[in-house]
Amino acid sequence: MEQRPLGKTGADVSVVGLGTWQLGGDWGDVDDDSAAEVLDAALDAGVTLLDTADVYGDGRSEERIRKALVTRSDRPFVATKAGRRADPFEAGQYTPENLRAWIDRSRRNLGVDTLDLVQLHCPPPAVYSDQRVYDTLDALVQEQAIAAYGVSVETVEEGLTALQHPGVATIQVILNIFRRKPLEELLPAARRADVGILARVPLASGLLTGKYDESTTFPADDHRNFNRNGEAFDVGETFAGVPFEIGVAAAREVAEIAGDSVPTAAFALRWVIDQPGVTTVIPGARNVTQVRGNVAAASLAPLSDSQLSDLERVYDERIRAHVHDRW
Ligand SMILES: NC(=O)c1ccc[n+]([C@@H]2O[C@H](COP(=O)([O-])OP(=O)(O)OC[C@H]3O[C@@H](n4cnc5c(N)ncnc54)[C@H](OP(=O)(O)O)[C@@H]3O)[C@@H](O)[C@H]2O)c1
Repeated sequence: MEQRPLGKTGADVSVVGLGTWQLGGDWGDVDDDSAAEVLDAALDAGVTLLDTADVYGDGRSEERIRKALVTRSDRPFVATKAGRRADPFEAGQYTPENLRAWIDRSRRNLGVDTLDLVQLHCPPPAVYSDQRVYDTLDALVQEQAIAAYGVSVETVEEGLTALQHPGVATIQVILNIFRRKPLEELLPAARRADVGILARVPLASGLLTGKYDESTTFPADDHRNFNRNGEAFDVGETFAGVPFEIGVAAAREVAEIAGDSVPTAAFALRWVIDQPGVTTVIPGARNVTQVRGNVAAASLAPLSDSQLSDLERVYDERIRAHVHDRW
């Protein structure tokens, strides 16, 4: 699979990575065997970047990654996140002591001395301009507890703020056919600063596979049920912030634009891969079929000009008003 340099980390990573929130929780149950199969299938298919976080299943996603890697000779780049264990969830919690404790826990969960990448996990906005936080992360790099750090952001504004700090190696942001604002300023600025972009929620939590209809329901322990209106965390993380019925109708049009010969999910991922500035796209997957379907995006041809303009029309007509000025 195509590999690209991941910003200032010095690592090359596959253009299709694997998001592993599903292997922790909040997406209905994924049992141990399925999680191991998903990880193996991704690595076997050439995925060299895994995205996880200390809070996915309270460490379960990180631990499953550690277990999966024990039996393998290859070693992917593992990007984890820290910061959402803050309790209460406020900027004052991002002390050197707390950051160190969270990061040490991830080192234990993942079974490594040095974490490849720690991303600040969508903290309160003030944290992105808190020099003390960056000083702590710089010290942790010096001590080789982490090899590099980056940020995961909700808004373009937060990403632009983080870019002012030279130690930031990567930015993770929601980017998909239904979330285009990062294309305007954030991706060009990141590119100029040699900062890698991890594009998350690329399928709008599954909407952009075209497989749901207005009557689709999700289990009680799935955020697509319990966070529909942002009850538990930023609503932008659920269906990319697009109201479900509106997203279903727009995804139907996306599927038509993709045509019968290309699965809509792979088509949607190819769109992300080809945006200038994107390093890697990190779709989440609950099973092996999904992993393989997503990896196939790496070998698809770029979208045609008419497909690109049709997608832009769908965005402008159906989606823009719901998301563009919000994140
Ligand atoms: N704040 C943050 O930093 C943050 C927030 C969100 C996500 N993330 C990261 O980004 C990753 C990706 O985002 P996401 O998982 O939220 O959303 P996503 O990748 O847009 O959607 C994942 C869902 O799409 C469906 N799917 C995936 N591949 C498919 C395929 N080939 N065919 C059919 N359906 C497919 C599955 O839905 P079903 O379950 O219905 O099968 C899957 O659960 C996460 O795993 C996580 O690592 C980070």
